Amino acid sequence: MTGHPTNLFVLTGAGVSAESGLGTFRDRGGIWARFDPMKLATPEAYAADADTVLDFYDHRRRGVVAAEPNAAHRALARAEAWIAARGGRLFLCTQNVDDLHERAGSRAVTHMHGELLKARCCACGSVTPWRADLSRTDRCPACFTLGRMRPDVVWFGEMPMHLDAIEAALAEANLFVAVGTSGAVYPAAGYVRQARALGIPTCEVNLEPSDNAAAFDDARYGPASAVLPRYLAELGL
Ligand code: OAD
Repeated sequence: MTGHPTNLFVLTGAGVSAESGLGTFRDRGGIWARFDPMKLATPEAYAADADTVLDFYDHRRRGVVAAEPNAAHRALARAEAWIAARGGRLFLCTQNVDDLHERAGSRAVTHMHGELLKARCCACGSVTPWRADLSRTDRCPACFTLGRMRPDVVWFGEMPMHLDAIEAALAEANLFVAVGTSGAVYPAAGYVRQARALGIPTCEVNLEPSDNAAAFDDARYGPASAVLPRYLAELGL
């Protein structure tokens, strides 16, 4: 594309947080290579054995709290501010449940798989900021029901969040960039084809070609902390 994008849609995945020390899912030694998602990340698993599911997410939450954003998160925050100052928009859609984009300075982050630093009450549905471990002895701060709090993340078999806003933003974009995502999980994995069908240029930034690599017009390969700032600079951002 010529000139800097005025309406940039960025989709991030676990790869953007990998250099902050948070595990990816499908890489060798990744989270789903070591743990069975059906036993840890489904409503059925929570119903059958809440303690095991909550322990798994407690461990991941502690990792998120201890992690720091890296240069890729910071470059996206700078690009968002730069575009906004010129009347455009960077729509940041992440599959990540960490808060590293926010801590790097991104102002508007759409978490399609929810947020680990929030808890949701299964009884009343209210969502509460939550940094501590979760247990069945916790009460909902809104309705006071005991033992029904869960991480506010999307589990297998559940609908991702904010899909209408995401699709609307995608339709308005003039560049689609996917960063550090395997292209294995839908609906996010389908956005590159949706973008192309709309005539929007697409670029993948990844350590190596993803499952979806053939669907992109353009690509930059290498660690996101090095490659993404360089690519955004190439775009004039
Ligand atoms: P994956 O683990 O499936 O893919 C991570 C991607 O990041 C891979 O394509 C890697 O090549 C790439 N990668 C790894 N390190 C990188 C680095 N330093 N720089 C750039 N790229 C790097 O993670 P996601 O695609 O995010 O959902 O997974 C999508 C969803 O699957 C997750 O949100 C999660 C999982 O099940 C739920 O839990 C609902």
